[in-house]
Amino acid sequence: MSTRKNPAEPRKILVTSALPYANGSIHLGHLVEYIQTDIWVRFQKMQGNECHYVCADDTHGTPIMLRAEKEGITPEQLINRVWQEHSDDFKAFHVAFDHYGSTNSDETREFAEQIYLKLKATGLIEKRSIEQYYDPVKQMFLPDRFIKGECPKCGAKDQYGDNCEVCGAAYTPAEVKNPYSAVSGAKPELRNSEHYFFKLSAGTCQQFLREWTRSGTLQPEAANKMQEWLGAEGENKLTDWDISRDAPYFGFEIPDAPGKYFYVWLDAPVGYMGSFRQLCDGRIQDSGSGIQESLNFDEYWKQGSDAELYHFIGKDILYFHALFWPAMLQHAGFRTPTKLFAHGFLTVNGEKMSKSRGTFITAKSYVDHIKNTEYLRYYYAAKLNGTMEDLDLNLEDFIAKVNSDLIGKYINIASRCAGFISKRFDGKLGNIDSAATTEFQSAFNSGEIAHCYEQRDFSRALREIMHLADVANQYIAEKKPWELAKHADKDAELHETCSTALTLFRDLTLYLKPILPMLAAQVEAFLNISPLAWNDIWKALPAGHTINTYQHLMTRLDPKLIEAMVAANQESLQPQVQSEQRHAAHQQHTANKEAARAEKEFEPFIDIAEFSKIDLRVARIVNAEHVEGAEKLLKLTLDIGEEKPRTVFAGIKSAYDPEKLKGRMTVMVANLAPRKMKFGMSEGMVLAASGEAPGLFILSPDDGAQPGMRVK
Ligand code: MSP
Ligand code: ZN
Repeated sequence: MSTRKNPAEPRKILVTSALPYANGSIHLGHLVEYIQTDIWVRFQKMQGNECHYVCADDTHGTPIMLRAEKEGITPEQLINRVWQEHSDDFKAFHVAFDHYGSTNSDETREFAEQIYLKLKATGLIEKRSIEQYYDPVKQMFLPDRFIKGECPKCGAKDQYGDNCEVCGAAYTPAEVKNPYSAVSGAKPELRNSEHYFFKLSAGTCQQFLREWTRSGTLQPEAANKMQEWLGAEGENKLTDWDISRDAPYFGFEIPDAPGKYFYVWLDAPVGYMGSFRQLCDGRIQDSGSGIQESLNFDEYWKQGSDAELYHFIGKDILYFHALFWPAMLQHAGFRTPTKLFAHGFLTVNGEKMSKSRGTFITAKSYVDHIKNTEYLRYYYAAKLNGTMEDLDLNLEDFIAKVNSDLIGKYINIASRCAGFISKRFDGKLGNIDSAATTEFQSAFNSGEIAHCYEQRDFSRALREIMHLADVANQYIAEKKPWELAKHADKDAELHETCSTALTLFRDLTLYLKPILPMLAAQVEAFLNISPLAWNDIWKALPAGHTINTYQHLMTRLDPKLIEAMVAANQESLQPQVQSEQRHAAHQQHTANKEAARAEKEFEPFIDIAEFSKIDLRVARIVNAEHVEGAEKLLKLTLDIGEEKPRTVFAGIKSAYDPEKLKGRMTVMVANLAPRKMKFGMSEGMVLAASGEAPGLFILSPDDGAQPGMRVK
């Protein structure tokens, strides 16, 4: 930070968040990162620094290619659709990128090629033949995650090609017994293929990384991790990094190697540069009309740049950002990041997000149910402390924090005082109680709050700010404006009390603005003031200033909304898009294992053994009824020839009148583990068809089928 020539000038800062994969929805886990980054960026902008925030979708790789194929569309169509969904989600949570691009862009391609060619010219690219599994049916080489088979250690069946979920062993695909392709089910063959490697093992890389990772660029926990990965001095633990993949692959073809593509993790971080380039280019066009100042790419990326560059990332992708990425930049003649800010993983109610518990919550489903996204921004801020520790979204605590702190302490200041100003004083503020504001200011260290924001210790910043809210509430409690209002001769005191309280409310709003930007905008409109910047602090609103009539700023968070959201995520009959539930345990693996993690998402085929695990039975619907308080569910009683009929809650209320279901035959999954739902135990699942168009259709067997018959 101190490399700036003139400390009086605004800092030049470029900030990124990790680029989300274009094959899944944004969920509450992702949002930890984007909200964290957005708060930090808004703080920097409020400080008057020149801060730019860019991000993009991470669009390449095998999973995206296969998913598009399965949906019968091109990868480009898929990534365009997802780009729009992601953009909408971020907008709803007020994550304000200056530019949101895509790695599938000309800009990213050009930088990826440029970096590659430079590394090659420096002698850091090597071509080597490797032996790899090939799917003869699908005619493609298989990433480790697309090979399945028996664990070489414990013999468990259907394990991935890189690690066993039963015994936890890590191994190479070649060690897997009876391997099969997860794409086609075929027995894979070992074949040779030429791959391109980035020579991370070279002395120059190891030496550089050793210095870089020790030079204050990483949090202490991350720096320790790196020491482990790098090994002791002279140990040269790093191995070369395989940066190429064979066709068919959705990505960028390597310039001088037809049929070979850059591995997705090569061009993903280059997407930071590509997205920023697009921001710069957009500025140049705009500045012609005088709207924005131009922005110079090289000022931020050339070696020796005095701009600051920060990457916000999850701890699971530290390896890529702390080793591969700086080594690439350094040896290709670009500047390296000023710092990496890694955060931990989100748990919900103390556990990993889970679909069966309804805690795997997408951004969209939060918006559909809760609407107000600033509740979540507030809660995450209260939990984020700038370390790599995991953080927990406890849903009860979430409701309590929002209602008792945010509304009870902060919003209440305005709602208790604003009405008097409108009704009794014609909307005009009076004198400020300077004794009170002085006491207030001395109880409080505003430099400290700025420091907390800068250090990403939002949790501490909020504690300080809420302490201020306590002092303000105490002032109101002592003055009792509602009592003063009863006595005509106390008008002056009432006026002063309410004006003072609203000034304090304005100061609180200023401090909360990076976290609650929409609310702050509402407050600015209500107080009739221009957008609050950091150095507006303690500037009292002048006597005679007219404010607008107070409108409700925020309502309490209704616990029923949370219940409904969790129930909806549980009720869903639709198999949801497989998520990015990655685990820290995975990180313990070697470098290349770590890299393989990126391609783990897709399994278009199962074998017959897997299918036969599902016990499908013909069922007679003995009874069907509405469930009180459930939006989507019907309660079904199903006879499958057992002594006691089964109770199943099915999300088909929108499509069926329960009366018409009684007596009908259908098909159910009989061996689904019973699940405790809000309304009772559900002992199976009925099958129903649905598509893009509205409508939900349960299945019927042909005439003659009897309850309990097996469907296979
Ligand atoms: N595409 C890569 C990043 C490439 S950056 C050049 C990727 N994408 S991701 O969609 O899986 O994750 C995006 C970010 O969200 C990552 O920083 C990741 O750590 C973060 N999170 C994903 N799930 C998360 C939680 N459950 N909790 C907290 N952060 C999480 O990785
Ligand atoms: Zn095993």
